[in-house]
Amino acid sequence: MTDISGLRAQLLERIASAEMPREVLKANEIKELYATIPSLPPSERGAFGRAVNDLKTELETAIALRETAMENAAITSIDVTAPWDVNGALPELLPTENGTQHPLTREIENVVDIFTRMGFEAIESRQIDDDYHMFGTLNFPENHPARDGYDTFRTEEGFIPPAHTSTMQHRILERGKAQLENGGQIAAISYGRVFRNEDVDATHEHTFYQCEGVFVSPNATLGEMLGTLRSFFEVYYGQKLKTKTQPGYFPFVEPGLEFAIERPATLGGKPGEWLEMLGCGMIHPNVLREAGIDPVKYRGFAWGGGIDRLIMLKYNIEDIRHLESAKLQFLRKFA
Ligand code: FA5
Repeated sequence: MTDISGLRAQLLERIASAEMPREVLKANEIKELYATIPSLPPSERGAFGRAVNDLKTELETAIALRETAMENAAITSIDVTAPWDVNGALPELLPTENGTQHPLTREIENVVDIFTRMGFEAIESRQIDDDYHMFGTLNFPENHPARDGYDTFRTEEGFIPPAHTSTMQHRILERGKAQLENGGQIAAISYGRVFRNEDVDATHEHTFYQCEGVFVSPNATLGEMLGTLRSFFEVYYGQKLKTKTQPGYFPFVEPGLEFAIERPATLGGKPGEWLEMLGCGMIHPNVLREAGIDPVKYRGFAWGGGIDRLIMLKYNIEDIRHLESAKLQFLRKFA
């Protein structure tokens, strides 16, 4: 019969020095003990089986004790009070990175800076507004299909997260009225976040930024507007540009135009590649009248364009969704 007690001493010794004591349970000798059972005379099998099981229990207890002892040794071997070795390698520090401005913030500041240097006052737009400022002040008749073109969100209370910065036009006009009557003019931009219930793709976001411009004087002209816009784009992109306009429909301007620039070769463009940058036009008499400004005495022009698309062209960003993605891989390019 197999010598269980000799084997027991051997296995306990192995456990006492093993780095991975639980592995001892897989030893061939234990497998052999179990394999022996069926070959024994039936009268001996019971006692032998019990002896093998007792051995296994004893080994498991020894393994558990050894494992606990090893864990405790690992903890007590770290001396947290020890001074560190000044001549040894420096401890590894946690990685740190300096934060930078988000490209949208940086470019909005850039846009605001250019227009304020041209004499425009800058006002941040609202992020929650109402039907009157979104449509009513802007000459959209009730139930007019043009309202649908703006894919507007609405809260349950009927408020509107603005779909364009033109919601600020009426406020700018009302505020500037006194100045106008005192012989001055209104020159302001409004910039901020806008929201549209839009099918999102590489050039369309549901949340993006716009910049609106409003200018009113006794004799404002379309030519002044085109000159203002061309100057802005040339300063922003730092080069001479070709520009053109084509008719565009917006109920709050008459005539209404779309303003395009030819994508310059330095920004990856080919001759004849036109990019529509914004909507613009002469402020509709109804919009001036709604703000208490006499359209016979005063004229104005307004424009509104997307800031995200402005940035995409400047930095050759292929997908607008990167801007709101918060992806560090993208943001680090602007560090
Ligand atoms: C307007 O929003 C008008 N309020 C512009 C305007 C202002 C016209 C004043 C006349 C006078 P439009 O929907 O075309 O127009 O948007 C203007 C610009 O916003 C576009 O040229 C584009 O640059 C940007 N834009 C529009 N939709 C999106 C979108 N889903 N994602 C990113 N940019 C967009």
